[in-house]
Amino acid sequence: MIDARLAVLLSGTGTILQAMIEAGVPIDLVVSDRDCEAENIAFRSDIPVMRICRTIFGWDTTLPWNRQSHFEREAFSDFVTASLQQEGIDLIALAGFMTILTGSFHNSYQHRVINTHPSLLPAFPGAHAVREALAAGLNQTGFTIHMVTEKVDCGPTIYQEAVAIRRGDTVESLHERIKQRERIAYPFILKQILAGERALPPASAYFTT
Ligand code: GRF
Repeated sequence: MIDARLAVLLSGTGTILQAMIEAGVPIDLVVSDRDCEAENIAFRSDIPVMRICRTIFGWDTTLPWNRQSHFEREAFSDFVTASLQQEGIDLIALAGFMTILTGSFHNSYQHRVINTHPSLLPAFPGAHAVREALAAGLNQTGFTIHMVTEKVDCGPTIYQEAVAIRRGDTVESLHERIKQRERIAYPFILKQILAGERALPPASAYFTT
């Protein structure tokens, strides 16, 4: 058993968080970057929630048509990093966290951040993976559980699984079918890592492209 304090970072509906809780993943802290349903799931399970609102890092309310243009990503990343360190967090699982973190976060938590992404990476990195896979007319996509590096959706793979694209699928129906599988695999893999039964990819894997 690895003695690690785990934080889950998220921004959305939290169905993967719910699956982690139901599977018995020991979560010490949930961090959100906005008001979201996932926070309520954590509250109901008595998991401490820290909301670090990204909008206070440069949301200029006088410019609603351009409100993201002043987002201070580095200040936000520094603040998230310091907050995680203050809570003694060792391992981080991203589960639909919609803010890209920069420098300080990756330096401090190198080799200790895991994510699940709804495509078979390296295909379809980024925020529109499901939409892009559907638009490509493929008959399958999937998801990738991987280590996180500063280059988005490019870290070493831990696990991948294919999911069929069916005729008549919408972005929503396909994403839900992918998430059904992520809700099984991601908690399982996190538990294996925390139990010391699955090694993370070696450091050398970070230097391949
Ligand atoms: C998942 O599809 C995951 O791959 C992506 O965000 C989604 C989170 O879903 N990174 P939910 O908010 O847990 O339902």
